[in-house]
Amino acid sequence: MDNISILSIESSCDETSAAVIKNGNILANIVATQEIHKEFGGVVPELASRAHQQNIIPVIHQALDTAKVSKNELNAVGYTHGPGLLGALLVGSSFAKSFAMGLNIPVIPVNHMQAHILAHFIDDPKPAFPFLCLTVSGGHTQIVLVRDYLDMKVVGQTMDDAVGEAFDKTAKLLGLPYPGGPMIDSLAQKGDGNRFTFGQVKTEGYNFSFSGIKTGILYFLQKNTQKDPDFAKNNIEDIAASVQKTLIDLLLQKFEAAAMEYNVSHLAIAGGVAANSGLRARIAELAQKHNWKSYIPKFEYCTDNAAMIAMTAHYMYLGKQFGSLTDGPDPRLTFEPK
Ligand code: KG4
Ligand code: ZN
Repeated sequence: MDNISILSIESSCDETSAAVIKNGNILANIVATQEIHKEFGGVVPELASRAHQQNIIPVIHQALDTAKVSKNELNAVGYTHGPGLLGALLVGSSFAKSFAMGLNIPVIPVNHMQAHILAHFIDDPKPAFPFLCLTVSGGHTQIVLVRDYLDMKVVGQTMDDAVGEAFDKTAKLLGLPYPGGPMIDSLAQKGDGNRFTFGQVKTEGYNFSFSGIKTGILYFLQKNTQKDPDFAKNNIEDIAASVQKTLIDLLLQKFEAAAMEYNVSHLAIAGGVAANSGLRARIAELAQKHNWKSYIPKFEYCTDNAAMIAMTAHYMYLGKQFGSLTDGPDPRLTFEPK
């Protein structure tokens, strides 16, 4: 086949990103992070849509310039079809469809969760099929059996909050700014993860529940603050480490059991929480214990980025899985096994 060049756009939440991929190699990956949400302690959907609207054209120009690919060389335009915030998705999908229509090339609607997993194929070493991926982000927590690039099955997921939300909400309770996950991570590195325990919720099969833990942490802090008003401030490192350990224990108990049942020996982690240094270390330990292999994407490919959308669009292009100009964004897009 001739050269395949694809421009891809990610706009599902609070990162506006554009990437260019040529023959499966990422040539540019530009990410504009929206700082505005910090003031509000969480992503404000309307502000996210407005910021995407402002960022999208500069980000796309920069991606094409960096890649040294002209728009007339493009073979297709990929975009995040869902899941995500409707207004945010609308900005990226409308732009992608108009741009593709103007250039008379196909559009490729990409599932954001599938893309987080295919981020593993951007750089070496790449996992071998079948492998099991723990996808952990601010919106999702899934265990996915990956049989091929576009053949995946969710074997377990959260029944309520995502693990990223549990990190962010704990950070909020501790008075830390949004998004709190990275701050919990750095405080945890200096703390004792065995000092405090919080109630764990039992769930069926490989499903997770994180809302009970969040309440457990809230009561724990309230009880201890009544006795000592400076409790949180004076123990913040141990609290962060203990919360992080509780969350990682929950994730890895299920992940290990699922890997044994599905008889896979390659494990991967993906999504924003895969940037967590504790989780990265523990997944490597788990693999070593069983003589399995673990795969951890580069930090910049864990949090939302268009390179992973481009990688998925590349495989969809090869499989001729094109979309149509009448496709609307799907905020609740599920993981359809093909
Ligand atoms: O994948 P992502 O960028 O966006 C979504 O699709 O949700 O994930 C964002 C989430 C946030 O909850 C953020 O706090 C969390 O990933 N996160 C972390 C770390 N870096 C990002 N959580 C724990 N430790 C980190 N180092
Ligand atoms: Zn994401």
